[in-house]
Amino acid sequence: MVYHPSFETMGMPDWTPDSWRKRPTQQQPVYPDPAAVEAAVRELAALPPLVTSWEVESLRQQLAEAAAGRRFLLQGGACAESFTDCRADRLTKKLKVLLQMSLVLTYGLRRRIIRVGRFAGQYAKPRSSDTETRDGVTLPTYRGDLVNGPEFTADRRTPDPQRLLRGYERAALTLNFIRSLVEGGFADLRHPEYWDLGFVRHSTRAAEYQRMVDSIGDSLRFMETLAGITAGEISRVDFFTSHEGLHLLYESAQTRQVPHREGWYNLSTHFPWIGMRTADPAGAHAEYFRGIENPVGIKVGPAMTPEWLIDLLDTLDPDRIPGRITLIHRLGHDRIADLLPPLIEAVQREGRTVLWSCDPMHGNTERTSNGYKTRRFDNILSELEQAFDIHHDIGTYLGGVHLELTGENVTECIGGARGLEEADLSRAYRSQVDPRLNYEQALETAMLIARRIQRMNGRS
Ligand code: PEP
Ligand code: CO
Repeated sequence: MVYHPSFETMGMPDWTPDSWRKRPTQQQPVYPDPAAVEAAVRELAALPPLVTSWEVESLRQQLAEAAAGRRFLLQGGACAESFTDCRADRLTKKLKVLLQMSLVLTYGLRRRIIRVGRFAGQYAKPRSSDTETRDGVTLPTYRGDLVNGPEFTADRRTPDPQRLLRGYERAALTLNFIRSLVEGGFADLRHPEYWDLGFVRHSTRAAEYQRMVDSIGDSLRFMETLAGITAGEISRVDFFTSHEGLHLLYESAQTRQVPHREGWYNLSTHFPWIGMRTADPAGAHAEYFRGIENPVGIKVGPAMTPEWLIDLLDTLDPDRIPGRITLIHRLGHDRIADLLPPLIEAVQREGRTVLWSCDPMHGNTERTSNGYKTRRFDNILSELEQAFDIHHDIGTYLGGVHLELTGENVTECIGGARGLEEADLSRAYRSQVDPRLNYEQALETAMLIARRIQRMNGRS
C-alpha cells in the first residue's frame, strides 16, 4: 500500500467500535450474503469475552516496563493458526517451546520475560491478491480459517460468516487449555529429559548450549531448595495472547465496555497488532485501533517512511500512554541497516517512548526453486543481530522479538544446527501460509539471543 497523510484522522473525536465502517477498508472478505454476516456478528457480540480488562491493563504495564528497558517481550506462534491445530498435543508443544525459550532468555538477559503467544485468534490473513487462478479456474484467495477454507474448491473458498463463530469457539478452547496448563504448573522444566536437545550435538556451539541448559536446571533446583519456590510456580506466570487485528467485524464484535473502567476494550485478545498491509493512518484499521484501550503492535515494513510512522503514532497514541505502542520492525536482513536508523531517529525526535521489537521473519521470506516458501535461519539471525547492534549504537533498547514458530518438528525454514536444506523442506512442510521455525530452530534462536546479550553486556 502507499502512504497518504491522514489529515482527517487527526483529533477526530467521535469513535465507536463500528466507526471504521465509514473508512476505506482493506483486506476484508466479500461475503455473498450480508444478512447472514450481520446475524453472525450479532451472535458473536452477545457471547462472553475471552480475556479481561485487568489482564489487558497488566500487560500494558509490563510492556511499559519493557519499553523502559526493564523487561523483554517474547512473542511467537504460527503465521496462521488453523482450526485443526486446536489439539492438545500441538498446543502443549507450542506452550512448551515458548516457556523453554523464555527460560533461556531470562537466563541470558537477566530480565523478566513477557510471554505472548500468537494464538487463540490468529485465524485471519492478509493476502496480496483477492483471487487465485489454477488451471484456468479463478476462486477467492484463502484468507485464513476465520474466513474460508484452504482447499481449492468453490465451496471451501467462498467466505462463510459462520466461521467467525467457529473461530471464536476455537480461540476459547485454545485459551481454556493454555490457561489450565499454565495454572497447573504445566511441566517440570528442571528435568533435562523434558528438553529435546538432540540438535545441540550438531552445533558448533554444542558445549555452550549444554552449559546454558545445565545452568538453567541448576538455578531452578537452587530456587526450589532455597526459597521453596517450585518450577511449577515459576511457570505459573502470566501468559498473554495476541493476533493480527485484521478482520474488523470479528474484532469490533468483541469490543466492549466494562464496569468501573473508561473506554473500550478488545476482549478477544490481550494484544492485537496492525499488519503492514493495513497500516494506513487514514484507513479503517487505524480508525478501529485508535479507539481501543489495549496495547497495540504496529508492524513496520520496508515501505514505511518516518512521516508515515509518526502519523500512525499521532493517530493511535495521541496521549502518549506508556506501554500503548510496540513497534515490530520486519525489514529484512539486507535492508535493516539502511531502513531502521531513520525510523528510530524520527521516533526519538518526536520524544516518543515505544517498545521496539524485531520480527526477523517477514522481511526474509523467499521461494525455493522447487516452489516452497521458506526462510533461511542465517538470514533470520543476521536481521536479529543487526537489530540489536543498531539499537545499541543509537542508544535505544531492543526490548522484544516476534517469531513465527511451532513446537513441532516441521521442515519449513532452512538451516539451524541440524543444517536443514532445500531438499528437506518437502519432508514435513505443514504451514498453509508462512514458514515457521521448528522446535529446535526456535530454541536455538533463543540461545543465540541469550548468548549475544551476555556478550554485549560483557558476561560470557
Ligand atoms: C504476519 O505477521 O503473519 C504478517 C502478515 O506480517 P506483516 O503484516 O508484517 O507482513
Ligand atoms: Co506470517
